[in-house]
Amino acid sequence: MRTGRRLRLGVLGSGRGSNFVAIADAIEAGVLNAQIMLVASDLADAPILTEATRRGIPTYACPIGRFKTKLEPEIESALARQLQNAEVDYVILAGFMRVVKAPLLEAFPQRIINIHPSLLPAFPGLRSWEQALNARVSETGCTVHWVDSHVDSGPILGQAKVSVLQNDTAESLHARIQLEEHKLFPQVLQSLAEKL
Ligand code: GRF
Repeated sequence: MRTGRRLRLGVLGSGRGSNFVAIADAIEAGVLNAQIMLVASDLADAPILTEATRRGIPTYACPIGRFKTKLEPEIESALARQLQNAEVDYVILAGFMRVVKAPLLEAFPQRIINIHPSLLPAFPGLRSWEQALNARVSETGCTVHWVDSHVDSGPILGQAKVSVLQNDTAESLHARIQLEEHKLFPQVLQSLAEKL
């Protein structure tokens, strides 16, 4: 039986949005007691926005700014206001390729959650699955964690392990990590819903 209140989620992503889809599917299947209030992106043509629209979920695209790795403060403040207006409990980073700065961190203290494709603290940063392959580790995985002011840092909420196979390529390893991400993210969110 489902317990807890329905979580109100805002999802931020820059890419194809397979984690967003996994979360939305888990909600539809009744295994995650949540509602996605808004999907936002720094890229107006990101597939995650198209998929959200297809599912009838409100979307927001940030204006194009001057920077690549962060949002300009005014743009980030406007995004924070959108999320506040949507009255979200948590902001979910699902492949959001900008470093979150003060406007969002201050608007949502201890309420921003990221998924990262490695067993943090190992392999923070970009293309973590490739970092794992190059380091010849036998095991990697994915991590869901609270977001703080550092990159891929913050207290860990959950992790799932993935074995590195002898014939793995960057693509095959990343694909298996993503399969685990799609299970882990909804599970962690449901455990938060049960605590509300
Ligand atoms: C995931 O691998 C996630 O760990 C990383 O970005 C990727 C997003 O993929 N932060 P998708 O857009 O959810 O498919």
